[in-house]
Amino acid sequence: MTNKFYITTPIYYPSGSPHIGHCYTTVACDVVSRYKRARGFDVLFLTGTDEHGQKIEDKAAAAGLAPQAYADQIVEEFKKLWTFMNISYDRFVRTTDDYHIKTVQYVFEELYKRGYIYKGQYTGKYCKPCESFWTDSQLVDGKCPDCGREVVETSEEAYFFKLSEFSDRLKALLESGTFLEPESRVKEMVNNFIKTGLEDVCVSRTSFKWGVPVNFDEKHVVYVWVDALSNYISALGYHNDTYSDFDKYWPADIHVMAKEIVRFHSLVWPAMLMALDLPLPKKIYAHGWIVMGDKKMSKSLGNVVDPFILGKRYGIDALRYEILREMPYAGDSFFSTELFLQRINTDLANNLGNLVSRSVSMVAKYFDGTLSAERQAEELDADLINLAKELPSKVEERIDDFHLCEALDLIQSLVSRANKYIDETTPWTLAKSPEMKIRLATVLYNLLETIRICAIMLEPFMPESMKEVLSRIGASGEETSWNSVHEFGVLSRTTTVRAGDPIFPRINIEEEQKFLLADAC
Ligand code: MSP
Repeated sequence: MTNKFYITTPIYYPSGSPHIGHCYTTVACDVVSRYKRARGFDVLFLTGTDEHGQKIEDKAAAAGLAPQAYADQIVEEFKKLWTFMNISYDRFVRTTDDYHIKTVQYVFEELYKRGYIYKGQYTGKYCKPCESFWTDSQLVDGKCPDCGREVVETSEEAYFFKLSEFSDRLKALLESGTFLEPESRVKEMVNNFIKTGLEDVCVSRTSFKWGVPVNFDEKHVVYVWVDALSNYISALGYHNDTYSDFDKYWPADIHVMAKEIVRFHSLVWPAMLMALDLPLPKKIYAHGWIVMGDKKMSKSLGNVVDPFILGKRYGIDALRYEILREMPYAGDSFFSTELFLQRINTDLANNLGNLVSRSVSMVAKYFDGTLSAERQAEELDADLINLAKELPSKVEERIDDFHLCEALDLIQSLVSRANKYIDETTPWTLAKSPEMKIRLATVLYNLLETIRICAIMLEPFMPESMKEVLSRIGASGEETSWNSVHEFGVLSRTTTVRAGDPIFPRINIEEEQKFLLADAC
């Protein structure tokens, strides 16, 4: 039986056009999904949009549209961006989909019937942009601790979820090992929320209408976070008839998100699942933010870099690469077009692109495109071959653990080693002596074989350009499968290469920056 792998992004608020910040989580999940599929897993990759709540209602009103019409427009933009970024999601859930609403109503009523939801009076502070309730002690300088914006005093009849009852179980869960990563987030959750005393969560609102109605008390709508978190099971058909693979895919193998919404995923969500007697997700992984200057990139801060402009001009694969390459595990990353363009030149054009074009053009030049079969190994080859053999299992480990930037770093180290091998073996000198022809074929084969292994490992990150690389070195069928990366010598000895334009052309950084400033942004 094949193993299943269920991976999710947060469902995004369609409160404005998507930007590069949104791309990190989605591209990272896409890489891991593609990698898992390549390794034979039956993957379900879910993404979607979180369309209810006061924020969307307000935005729609400001745009002179009904909330649904407003959300429809922006959801199209998200879908367009994911198609553009070559995201291989399997399902797209919208919280306004009928089946999702059915699941949310079931979840809310079931929690109520089980005694985990009760009616009370809510008085406190509410941050509209974050759709979060705060107590006075949680505020920072009287403002929302998440986004630093003003909060408003709220008082209304509301339903509450008994989060406080789950304190001990949640603490045990968080401290049990690998449920929440990186480790630093565990301390943050335990110290900032559990140790200070978990409070029950307000889970309904009466002050606005744009939400899922509580089916047994229609003047209430379900609080957006209970609505939103339920997407992870509604999209599998939990208590709805649209899908029927809950038993197959649940529990999720990993929920991925940025750090600001860990609280909901590592406290509220597991508690809801415990209350429903459902299995818990295996892992919550919270990465850092893409920042520009010292602020999280976001629509409201007005420092968004348009992924459509950058992707069209420099290639989707280069953009995907950059987004992942700069994000350290457990840290934030910095995005600037200058850094992006530099990275294209150093990693993609000079290192990888150069290795491919030099190797392929030498096979074209010295062998008319098709390598001869005889080999003559030398001691000098061992270092490159050993590295190429050792690396794949390390890369697998990094991708499995979501250390994607480190995986790329490792692959680039093999590319660099192969470039050094060209300098060490100087094929152009070998080409001058006919008696060295066999040695020359050996050197070029070792290069093509290293390229094959690198391209397979890079394919989840840069799918289109790596397919092209594999085709240029004449690799096909089993020679391009993930299974074959652990072996050196898989490529046909008499492979035929195809030369072509540079896969990643070098960029004139100064000129491009002028272009981006003047014409694009
Ligand atoms: N709707 C909620 C999530 C509900 S999930 C059950 C929400 N939406 S959001 O549109 O604000 O998206 C937040 C998520 O978008 C982050 O957690 C992260 O995954 C991604 N990012 C948005 N901006 C980002 C950066 N600048 N940097 C990295 N990722 C960020 O919260």
